[in-house]
Amino acid sequence: MDVHTNIPLKNYTTMRLGGSARFMTDVHTPEEVAQACKNAIGQELPIFILGGGSNIIVHDEGFNGIVIHNKIRGFEVISDEPGKTLVRIGAGENWDEAVKRTVDMNLSGIEALSAIPGTAGAAPVQNIGAYGQEIADSLVSLAAYDIQTDRFIELQNADCAFSYRHSIFRGEAAGRYVILSITLQLYKTAPQPPFYAAVQDYFDKNNITLYTPQAIRDAVRVIRADKLPDPAILPNAGSFFKNAIVEDWQLTDLRQQYPDMPVYDMPDGRFKIPSGWLIQEAGLKGQTLHGMHVHDKNALVLINESASSYADLAAAREEIIGAVRDKFRITIEQEPLEV
Ligand code: EPU
Repeated sequence: MDVHTNIPLKNYTTMRLGGSARFMTDVHTPEEVAQACKNAIGQELPIFILGGGSNIIVHDEGFNGIVIHNKIRGFEVISDEPGKTLVRIGAGENWDEAVKRTVDMNLSGIEALSAIPGTAGAAPVQNIGAYGQEIADSLVSLAAYDIQTDRFIELQNADCAFSYRHSIFRGEAAGRYVILSITLQLYKTAPQPPFYAAVQDYFDKNNITLYTPQAIRDAVRVIRADKLPDPAILPNAGSFFKNAIVEDWQLTDLRQQYPDMPVYDMPDGRFKIPSGWLIQEAGLKGQTLHGMHVHDKNALVLINESASSYADLAAAREEIIGAVRDKFRITIEQEPLEV
């Protein structure tokens, strides 16, 4: 296992800013994960697990520990029954390539999660979701290395405590597990309407009435390409804020003032208000703050246009949060994790 020193993390994140990692090593197998973690603990070094770097923000002082770059590969069908198929995907696999493979097999379950940057192992951490699907709906279990107990374990869906853009991996168990592979249950039945409005619009405009996983993947790829900047060209971390979640009484109050505000019902009886709309109505869409550009087509996305540091990003973030709070009395939260 080669260990490299003083590695600029901006080269490993799609936001392309922040400082260096003191050490970095690639891991390709569960055994290498365990070894790398044990070495780090022996040397009292903090550990950070890196996937695709598309949902993390690095501080200017960098990371004074070891970054373990998860490169565990693998894509296997582990059971194939008449209506459903279980697939196991290595944590270091590119997420969209894995989605493509399932869609090529005509399997349904993650096709609406097409074109999301990052790795398969990172997908459960923030419970990736888009266009009507969440990974929590398909994930049966995952294999992980428990750094705390030095054991290989399997966690079931319920153990992960998934909720909107959240799981134990960013909550109470943050930093404890290294995800090695994920097991998904996918279906052979065709996707059924109702579809997410933007997907249905695409179908209507293109006269598509045969609803296949491939048709949904194609629609999502077109919609995302229009609304979300390609991180390879314009540095960004996808949605920079989570959508706001409000209680019934807050919604009633807000609706009186803003009758046109978009609102989505949550399964728990609360309501989701798109933060992109809040930022737009606060007048910041298309503005550049401290080198961070609020995307013209989707105010939820911040593009690093000329910011050179985490400090620039933090200043822009605080201005945006402050403007939304002043106007709506809602405090929006950052979505990407920080290193
Ligand atoms: N909207 C505006 N102005 C904006 C952005 C959005 O008015 O600048 C409005 C839209 O018109 C629409 C509503 O807000 O009425 C929701 O917009 P959209 O459907 O584009 O979704 P989103 O809330 O902006 C969320 C996810 C995306 C996911 C899409 C599609 C979060 C934080 N973001 O975005 O996920 O692709 O839904 O399902 O939940 C990500 O997490 O990185 C991500 C891209």
